[in-house]
Amino acid sequence: MASKTAAYKKVERDSWNKFSARYTKVVLPEFRPFGRRLIEIAGVRRGMWVLDVATGPGEPALTLARLVGPSGVVVGVDFSPAMLRRARARARNLHLHNVLFREMDAERLTFDDMTFDRVCCRFGLMLMPDAERALAEMRRVLVPGGLVAVAVWSAQSKVNTLGIVSRALERYDAFDPPSGAPDFFRFGKTGAIERALRAGGFRQVRSERLTVEWVFKGPVEFWDSMKRGPSLRRVLSKVSPTIRRAVKEDVFHALEKFQRHGKLRIPNEAVLALGVK
Ligand SMILES: C[S@@+](CC[C@H](N)C(=O)[O-])C[C@H]1O[C@@H](n2cnc3c(N)ncnc32)[C@H](O)[C@@H]1O
Repeated sequence: MASKTAAYKKVERDSWNKFSARYTKVVLPEFRPFGRRLIEIAGVRRGMWVLDVATGPGEPALTLARLVGPSGVVVGVDFSPAMLRRARARARNLHLHNVLFREMDAERLTFDDMTFDRVCCRFGLMLMPDAERALAEMRRVLVPGGLVAVAVWSAQSKVNTLGIVSRALERYDAFDPPSGAPDFFRFGKTGAIERALRAGGFRQVRSERLTVEWVFKGPVEFWDSMKRGPSLRRVLSKVSPTIRRAVKEDVFHALEKFQRHGKLRIPNEAVLALGVK
């Protein structure tokens, strides 16, 4: 079990390393509206110490650094060194001196107990095999009364960009996540994120759902974009050309209902949740 988890984390870390450039350019702007709302509900104020877990190329850490101002501190952690290099470069370009980045597994934070006023985690928790442990770690490093704010994907049927592709792959028995991978959509089930936060020791837990549309010129742009992402590229490289064609046709068919005013407008739902230590 432990070795399966370690193997999964290695695959995951390698793939985020490889994907870091494209992620920074393409995915960060798509996630911005989710980040705005997450920061709002986290109630971050000037002078606070904030931890951003699974920060990737530095979000929401860099936005938070501007909010807490020079009297506050933001620390971003991630287990992908390539992502962290991008985060540091972005901090330098923005002349932000109150933010630092550390390589770390979210399930084993190396900070002292009661270090931070707030902990944020945007689209990281659902990737972690032991999310409950990660939440307990986030709680441990919070001051009493401190707050955690997380954003996770909703159910597969509501995260359409990823859901359409996963469903097409499943239909042809080609859905093949790395061994030991958790279900990325598990926190979309009613009450699931609340249960996880309570199991991590949080109280006054609440959540809300937010849908954001991602816009593509058409199915070809969508398919090309998804194919360049880490999971689909890996899966497609393992299947026959016939299956690859069939999956693509399925995806194009499923996209038809999202055509509006000459563009593809695809809604994706996330769950944003809060808990108090
Ligand atoms: C979808 S990206 C989110 C990045 C950023 N927070 C954002 O919202 O744009 C997921 C990030 O989680 C990181 N990650 C996944 N599992 C992790 C773990 N166990 N410990 C630390 N980082 C992890 C990956 O390296 C990747 O950078």
